[in-house]
Amino acid sequence: MSILVTGAAGFIGSKVCELLAKSGEDVVGIDNINNYYDVKVKKYRLDGLKKLKNIKFYKVDIEIKKDIEKILNEYKCKAIINLAARAGVRYSMENPFTYVSTNIMGTLNLLDIARENKIKKFILASTSSLYAGQKMPFVESLAVNTPISPYAASKKGAEAMCYSYHYLYGIDVSVLRYFTVYGPAGRPDMSVIRFIKWIDEEKPIELFGDGLQTRDFTYVEDIAIGTIKALKKVGFEVVNLGGNKPYKLSYMINLIEKNLNKLANYDYKPFCKADIVATWANIDKANKLLQWTPKVSLEQGIRKTVDWYLENKYWFKNVTL
Ligand SMILES: NC(=O)c1ccc[n+]([C@@H]2O[C@H](COP(=O)([O-])OP(=O)(O)OC[C@H]3O[C@@H](n4cnc5c(N)ncnc54)[C@H](O)[C@@H]3O)[C@@H](O)[C@H]2O)c1
Repeated sequence: MSILVTGAAGFIGSKVCELLAKSGEDVVGIDNINNYYDVKVKKYRLDGLKKLKNIKFYKVDIEIKKDIEKILNEYKCKAIINLAARAGVRYSMENPFTYVSTNIMGTLNLLDIARENKIKKFILASTSSLYAGQKMPFVESLAVNTPISPYAASKKGAEAMCYSYHYLYGIDVSVLRYFTVYGPAGRPDMSVIRFIKWIDEEKPIELFGDGLQTRDFTYVEDIAIGTIKALKKVGFEVVNLGGNKPYKLSYMINLIEKNLNKLANYDYKPFCKADIVATWANIDKANKLLQWTPKVSLEQGIRKTVDWYLENKYWFKNVTL
């Protein structure tokens, strides 16, 4: 029995596939390899996965149900981990329709395939963005009724659909709300990787707002470990996976400066209305239910990410941000 991982060429998906395969699981990864950000980064991650023998990869779009069904005809799966998504907050203002079709319709396709194929376990990647307007630290029991971006709204739709399929068909679901994930081979549309590249290339960094907004940064390997732990039977649970220590963006920038031994120049942009001002995860539930705590501090994580960047600069310099 295999585990189907969607978004396998993505930042988090590729790490989840790698850790699952290294733990001896058979993994079937799918991704449509879209060009929302530079596909060179997706190809690099897939090249890494190709070295592991118990991973099969297929270029499949989760919006096309019959194509996913073909995969399920070939491989018996015991779980689906749905990490494929349109994930950028700001771009969701430009193209909200794609967010609904991928994040909600795509999730529905996968849930329906789980029902048809009697796949008992489903994991959905959701987001801390849903907590906009709530009191920190964010706890899972808070109401999330004011999504401030089409991205967050689409994840709320996906979460709700997961609950319906759990209630009606008994599918065991873990909804994981991730908090600002960063690390090696990270997304070139997110601040950490962009800032590293810009500071190293001595180009001004595009900063939305004043840098005083805070994020509960979480290292990618910690996120992947938590995601795999969430394969356990839980019924239906929403669980935060976050660093539990919010930091100002300006502190993250200082760490990059120290590691590169270069100073940032700034290109200030207005704060984007769709962005949340601050995030901070309460992770008591992840602790109790999944025995999960993040292990990598922001200081260690930024160092590892900068080291990765310096080793990969020979090709990463050609990545478009
Ligand atoms: N990175 C973060 O900080 C963060 C925070 C909260 C939630 N999340 C969620 O975690 C998941 C993974 O995020 P990520 O940071 O790895 O993003 P990512 O963009 O690197 O990975 C998503 C992958 O899904 C693929 N994909 C998109 N639409 C698809 C479709 N229709 N069919 C098949 N594949 C498709 C993309 O090509 C991409 O490789 C997403 O669901 C995202 O919303 C991420």
